[in-house]
Amino acid sequence: MRPPRTAPSPSTPLRILIVGSGAREHALAWRLARSPSVAAVVSAPGNAATERLGQNLEDVDANDPAAIVAAARVAAADLVVIGPEDALAAGAADRLRAEDIACIGPGAAAAQLESSKTFGKQLLREQGIPTAGSTRVTAAEELEALLEAASGPSVVKWDGLAQGKGVLVSDDHLALRDHGRRGLEQGTLLVEEYLEGWELSQLLLMDGRDAVAFPLCADHKRAFDGDAGPNTGGMGCVCPVPAVTPALAEQIDTRIVQPTLDGLRRRGLGYPGVLFIGLMVTDDGPKVVEYNVRFGDPETEALMPLFDGDLGAALMAAARGSLDPSLLRWTAAAAAVVVVAAGGYPGSYDRGIPVRALPAEDSADGVVFHAGTLAGTPHSDAAAGEEGAVSTNGGRCFAATGVASALPDAVAAAYRLAGAVQFDGAWYRRDIGRRFLDG
Ligand code: AMP
Ligand code: GLY
Repeated sequence: MRPPRTAPSPSTPLRILIVGSGAREHALAWRLARSPSVAAVVSAPGNAATERLGQNLEDVDANDPAAIVAAARVAAADLVVIGPEDALAAGAADRLRAEDIACIGPGAAAAQLESSKTFGKQLLREQGIPTAGSTRVTAAEELEALLEAASGPSVVKWDGLAQGKGVLVSDDHLALRDHGRRGLEQGTLLVEEYLEGWELSQLLLMDGRDAVAFPLCADHKRAFDGDAGPNTGGMGCVCPVPAVTPALAEQIDTRIVQPTLDGLRRRGLGYPGVLFIGLMVTDDGPKVVEYNVRFGDPETEALMPLFDGDLGAALMAAARGSLDPSLLRWTAAAAAVVVVAAGGYPGSYDRGIPVRALPAEDSADGVVFHAGTLAGTPHSDAAAGEEGAVSTNGGRCFAATGVASALPDAVAAAYRLAGAVQFDGAWYRRDIGRRFLDG
């Protein structure tokens, strides 16, 4: 039997378990480790950097709800913050709450906002929220007919979770047809109207009823400079976004955020956790591209250094249904994130590449968050700080976050940090934030 846990109060320091191993989770752990209300940060499975902020439970499968509940017990966690969407879609938050463990993240029912594109579209339609027109497709002939009728770019989306690989935006109908056919082998598709514009990420912290907005961020989704190449999880980000006028912010709130929250409440889908609304700002105003039910990556790496409150207290209040807007405060600084990727990403890439150099952890320029990294290399037991002490373990390996009082300086700082990350094949986009700085 588990020993009884006393209900944590603001005076009882919290033990927090973070599920995941990316730069998003490192950024959360980094901020929580600086949080007055937090006694311990445990990561499952974590990476080479989270290990230095607390304990890593490195054998935990971050997609397995049973493993997450077991990890919460081992960590004696008062609160679990779940990073990856697969665990949420599989019901990890339901399982934790059934065990009376507080959690940031929706149960499986509300996680469908992200895990099923048709579920998300239905909410958008019923609430009259601006979004791309779309058709649900279940057969190859329907796909052919839609693509034949389309002129210009189209968007074909697999309905389920696909690690960012389920969406193809293209004017090459053969490529769209192949992508759609592969999706149909696994389920249904959405064929969507192409939205022309620029993207914004609106994250909200919710307590099941009420929500508090985070500052808007601009992610750079395409792999290569000039928004060329395939979509990725995100190659860089800026916050705040200079192009956001007060009028645009007002439209996002009244036309999108409030009707979304109303829709969730009306359907009994409100949850303690993060709602991430992906937006396209078009000539007709902001439209919703997607809902996610978790912190964004790399948005979180931009937001955490700007957060100016007690994150542990804010997340715990959200999990308990008593979120107060005063708990989320932000500095007046700007942040820019440059993602350093492995050679070959977003295609195939090697893991286990020794990292030759990293900037100092307390750099005046900002912070380098680890994404796919492991402590040590397969054939080295180098000590921390030595060459080989860290090796790559993924495609997006580091998120270099520059922080400064103005965005141009934050971008320059992020590039100084990214340039100081050295491993064979390392590369990054050279134009993060440029769209917002020129002209
Ligand atoms: P999603 O998984 O739905 O967010 O799609 C991934 C990315 O594909 C988005 O962040 C956009 O960059 C792009 N995208 C998705 N839907 C559309 C659309 N209807 N028009 C233009 N780009 C889109
Ligand atoms: N940055 C986009 C995402 O987290 O899905």
